[in-house]
Amino acid sequence: MTEIKAFILDLDGVVTDTAEYHFQAWKRLADEENVPFTRQDNEKLRGVSRRRSLELLLGEHRSRYTEEQIEEMMARKNSYYQELLQEISEKDFLPGARQLLDDLKKHGLKVAIGSGSKNTRTVLTRLGILNFFDGISDGYSVTRAKPAPDVFVYAAGSVGVPAENCVVVEDAEVGVEAAIAGGMIAVGIGPKERIGQAHYCYENTADIDLNQILNGEA
Ligand code: BG6
Ligand code: MG
Repeated sequence: MTEIKAFILDLDGVVTDTAEYHFQAWKRLADEENVPFTRQDNEKLRGVSRRRSLELLLGEHRSRYTEEQIEEMMARKNSYYQELLQEISEKDFLPGARQLLDDLKKHGLKVAIGSGSKNTRTVLTRLGILNFFDGISDGYSVTRAKPAPDVFVYAAGSVGVPAENCVVVEDAEVGVEAAIAGGMIAVGIGPKERIGQAHYCYENTADIDLNQILNGEA
């Protein structure tokens, strides 16, 4: 059995629910640009990079815009998102997330963040856990976004643990793909239709059965 030495946690959707804030920021931009955008459309953006999210949001309207305008819209969405992040505090952990962090440390495991977000450090600071982690891999650490494994490979390197001894916890389909591509054990959070490729699937962060994973009872 592979010995598990580190956990790499995705941030948005695993530790805290920023998906709603991302939605509100994208929606504000979409309304300003007269592009239709619904909550259902937003589901396709889960775990997806800022640039790719904008391309998906614009769809057929993408050709209306120059690269300069695309850059400006990414910056505008981010400023709306950052306004909303001011609302986040220690009350905004997803159920079970704070407990999970403590349990991982109690088991003597290394714990890292593996998130594609360039706002990772701001969110961790607002949650009061910036200094909790042994390693942080975020949107600034690598150039290739999920489903490339890079953000997790970087996280594993930051805690000095080989990929095969790492568990990744993810709520996005692209994130599960990235973990598997990196040769790591994937734990999916959410409906099976979305994260069913993972080695272990749980509906919510609070449902994660740490002993099941550590004992290799897939
Ligand atoms: C991911 C989110 O964590 O980060 C995506 O799930 C988001 O919705 C991506 O687009 C990039 O985040 P940011 O904060 O750099 O725009
Ligand atoms: Mg996520």
